[in-house]
Amino acid sequence: MNLILVGFMASGKTSVGRRIGRRLGFRFMDTDQFIESEQGTTISEIFDIGSEEYFRGLEVQLLKRIQPLDNYIFATGGGILATDGNMAQLKLLGTVVFLNADIEGIIQRLENDSRRPMLQGENFRERVTELLARRMPGYLESDVVIDTAGKTPNQVAGEVIHRVGDFRRLVAQSTDSQILTQPNTE
Ligand code: S3P
Repeated sequence: MNLILVGFMASGKTSVGRRIGRRLGFRFMDTDQFIESEQGTTISEIFDIGSEEYFRGLEVQLLKRIQPLDNYIFATGGGILATDGNMAQLKLLGTVVFLNADIEGIIQRLENDSRRPMLQGENFRERVTELLARRMPGYLESDVVIDTAGKTPNQVAGEVIHRVGDFRRLVAQSTDSQILTQPNTE
């Protein structure tokens, strides 16, 4: 079983993902870091030299390639759900968890960041607000939603483990009851 963390930039996916990996003894992969090391360059340069579209293509290819992996925690880039079909791929891979950070916390953490090409330029606050609003419906299709405001990465990691356990038990129960209520055709 795999667990996939989605959410806006600076919502703690990598630090929480690493902690969950350590606690459960799962391997950890950050899709952005994987793309950077494979391409031998930074995301900013990939956006500069290629384009956002080129980067989104790399994300799509990576999602296909990681499908056979098991017992992984994946932290994904904040825009991964902007591409149609990616949520379906993520759900095939495992349980998808949305880390829902509060907008003021996001703004504070990103204000002086120069590594995120999506947020360079003027009207920073408006850009974050608009992008977050546009992406929210996609994030909310996740299997589990965790509000992270005021919580430490360790607390969030603990909550994810707990809530994913509940989610998986519920899914198992509903699958069992479907099997039990299937008419016997023999
Ligand atoms: C992006 C988020 C980044 C990275 C890229 C694009 C986005 O990942 O994938 O800069 O479109 O939101 P983080 O969410 O890890 O910052």
